[in-house]
Amino acid sequence: MNAVPSEAALRAWWMPFTHNRHFKAHPRLITAAQGAYYTLADGRRVFDGLSGLWCSPLGHSPARVVEAVQKQVATLDFAPSFQMGHPAAFTLAERIAQLAGRPDDKVFFVNSGSEAVDTALKIAIAWHRVRGEASRTRIIGRERGYHGVGMGGISVGGILANRKMFTPLMIPGVDHLPHTWNPAQMAYSRGQPDWGLHLVEDLERLVALHDASTIAAVIVEPMQGSTGVIVPPKGYLKRLREICTKHGILLIFDEVITGFGRLGTPFASDFFDVRPDLTTFAKAVNNATVPLGGVIASGDIYDAFMTGPEHLIEFFHGYTYSAHPLAVAAAHATLDELAASGLIARAAKLAPVLEGAIHSLKGEPLVTDIRNLGLAAAIDVTPVPGKPALRAFQVFEQALARGLMLRFTGETLALAPPFISTEDEVRGAVETLRTALRAVPV
Ligand SMILES: Cc1ncc(COP(=O)(O)O)c(C=O)c1O
Repeated sequence: MNAVPSEAALRAWWMPFTHNRHFKAHPRLITAAQGAYYTLADGRRVFDGLSGLWCSPLGHSPARVVEAVQKQVATLDFAPSFQMGHPAAFTLAERIAQLAGRPDDKVFFVNSGSEAVDTALKIAIAWHRVRGEASRTRIIGRERGYHGVGMGGISVGGILANRKMFTPLMIPGVDHLPHTWNPAQMAYSRGQPDWGLHLVEDLERLVALHDASTIAAVIVEPMQGSTGVIVPPKGYLKRLREICTKHGILLIFDEVITGFGRLGTPFASDFFDVRPDLTTFAKAVNNATVPLGGVIASGDIYDAFMTGPEHLIEFFHGYTYSAHPLAVAAAHATLDELAASGLIARAAKLAPVLEGAIHSLKGEPLVTDIRNLGLAAAIDVTPVPGKPALRAFQVFEQALARGLMLRFTGETLALAPPFISTEDEVRGAVETLRTALRAVPV
């Protein structure tokens, strides 16, 4: 296989979340990956500053995971999960519930974060119905939230570009909390901002507007990742939990980015000491080796469905690839490796290194804000006048040319290094970003 595809081949793939015409004129091709580094088609090695897409904290092709998947594909390549089951899926569910500190919780497997979100929304609405509160159908999301690209996810999500083309497909009865980012009040905050707790009270306003009897659930990312590491104000998530509990509203944490260690704790719910009713996960659960996601539901929610004749299906939902054996094998090996190498603790140890380094960019050309939490950080840059979203791309290109891959969206650049990174690699990535910022022609 040629390293560089023909022009016809380049044209054939309609790439996701990519400016296709520009990319195909200037392709950026990855041909291999090992540890914390990618190899590009021209042979250069670049540091993987975003752990893939927030999803490969062990680095690439860790031996334990590779071996487990190789063994699995030769033993049981596929097994249906409808009315049949393979043992490792059950033990994985048990391990995930235990890691979440909620051994009575149940895990529903899907294949992506988007599916996890749509599944959680369905569970929430169906749960209220099975327990006799069928009027609770409204879902509250949050501005700037990213919950994937399923119909439920874009409806509760708060990103304009992901929503505006698809109005007729949106699920009805959705409302949004305000986002919590206010640069005038909190620019350059380290970790959680002191300002902004009052914004959570908007949920009381929405309850007064719609009535609690119509609201099924609130869904938030504990830390908004995709829109640029937007960190909840101090006390915000605890208060959100209180208001939800007071009104009988389910709280869903979308932990697709924060699950499995990104904040230096197994889940963000541990970091914030707030217990949601439903948790979505994907990405790092198996180091993104094979697509896998899921929903962790409290035991009470599951139990409410377990009524009626025992020969009938209780919840009409699932995917052909739910609990795919290769994905499950990769997840067991990932959990083994996280534990054996103490990688969540390592992420916690690297977090202050990243915080110190990223905030040293204050005052560099173009930088207008810096945020961080756990092993995640983002900077905002001054837009190119009249050309929104171009500046961050320019910085990205300069960084890539210098051996660092990071993520750009809008006017934001995000860094979330693999947990296996060394302190020098974390600091080095930020220094590369500094030179990239200085190199952008203004
Ligand atoms: C919080 C959150 N939810 C859902 C998703 C969607 O996940 P996927 O791309 O696997 O569908 C993402 C992806 O980045 C995410 O960050």
